[in-house]
Amino acid sequence: MTKVGFVGWRGMVGHVLMDRMNEEGDLSRINPDFFSTSTPGQKGPQDQILKDAFSIDELSQMDIICTCQGSDYTNKVYPELKRRDWNGYWLDSSSAMRMNENAVIILDPVNGNVIDRAIDQGIKIFVGGNCTVSLMLMAIGGLFKENLVDWVSTMTYQAASGAGARHMFELMDQMSFLAGSAVDNKDALSLGKLVQKNMEHASFPTGNFNAPLAASLIPWIDDGMKDGRTKEEWKGEVELNKILGLKPPVPVDGICVRVGAFRSHSQALTIKLKRDVSIASIEDIVKNSNKWVKVIPNEKKQTLDKLTPAAVSGTLDIPVGRMRKMTIGKEYLTLFTVGDQLLWGAAEPIRRMLGILCR
Ligand SMILES: NC(=O)c1ccc[n+]([C@@H]2O[C@H](COP(=O)([O-])OP(=O)(O)OC[C@H]3O[C@@H](n4cnc5c(N)ncnc54)[C@H](OP(=O)(O)O)[C@@H]3O)[C@@H](O)[C@H]2O)c1
Repeated sequence: MTKVGFVGWRGMVGHVLMDRMNEEGDLSRINPDFFSTSTPGQKGPQDQILKDAFSIDELSQMDIICTCQGSDYTNKVYPELKRRDWNGYWLDSSSAMRMNENAVIILDPVNGNVIDRAIDQGIKIFVGGNCTVSLMLMAIGGLFKENLVDWVSTMTYQAASGAGARHMFELMDQMSFLAGSAVDNKDALSLGKLVQKNMEHASFPTGNFNAPLAASLIPWIDDGMKDGRTKEEWKGEVELNKILGLKPPVPVDGICVRVGAFRSHSQALTIKLKRDVSIASIEDIVKNSNKWVKVIPNEKKQTLDKLTPAAVSGTLDIPVGRMRKMTIGKEYLTLFTVGDQLLWGAAEPIRRMLGILCR
């Protein structure tokens, strides 16, 4: 059986990956070893003793190394393994090697053909994409496949979980801090003033987000770039084009916003179509592009029931709704989509890629 070394299995992405592998019985089809950067020698999953995630000797015994540990780890360990002529597969959730020319960004329901070709060509580095990009392509990959997309403008509503576990706790701490404002407060105007005062309080917890997120939002994700975009916004364009192998690239641009959702990202898209295509045809293309995408009729009840982070979190569903032609022209399509960013946005493409490599 294929020897697979897991690094980062207890982090957020790694935890979801382990849960999904257990659900699908994947671990029984491989020979897994578990590594840790901080607690080698202690007990890990399946009662195994954790190996040292910095031991190149141990790591180089693996046919596949699957890491959800982060970019610093990849940047440190991968070059050392290559210096030892290790020739296994490197499967990674971090962005460290995404744009490396010898790496493929994986999202097999969308780019399974690119992945198969890369394996045949001897490519050994496979990397999960940015969560928002993967979720967008799960939703509208069919429109790209039909060569219908001229450009896309994206406005995102990204959950706290995308920033990591500490940020999720901070969002809850901020909510708790504010929740006290509502007690015994019968007047909405003074409630508003109290919430504002509490957000400005010196003890209001903002150490991770650097700003209030509860009862507010943050229109900036990741570092800034010279051209005025944030890195998250830049990824939207370069990763999408790389995943699909588009030449020339399709322009993708917009504003990425952190909101107080907990686990699922949402996106409002404006899509400039290459030609006027009916909404009925677009719905068909979208819903037939993969088995997880669901078209939600553009009406209130179904939208509230099925097209929200609350409705989607913990599932693999990718609902697409609020779909209509815009009043600015027949080639302008708008839609809204939601997806669990720890599943399709992070762990699931990695889990499925392991299955492809071990088939
Ligand atoms: N969060 C997301 O939604 C998301 C989405 C797509 C991609 N990614 C990328 O995936 C990589 C991993 O992200 P992540 O959010 O999963 O990182 P994380 O939750 O911070 O976990 C990373 C590592 O931190 C260590 N750790 C230390 N204390 C821990 C504790 N109390 N509980 C759990 N782990 C602890 C663990 O390594 P040891 O066991 O070795 O100590 C763990 O594997 C990053 O490169 C990230 O950019 C994340």
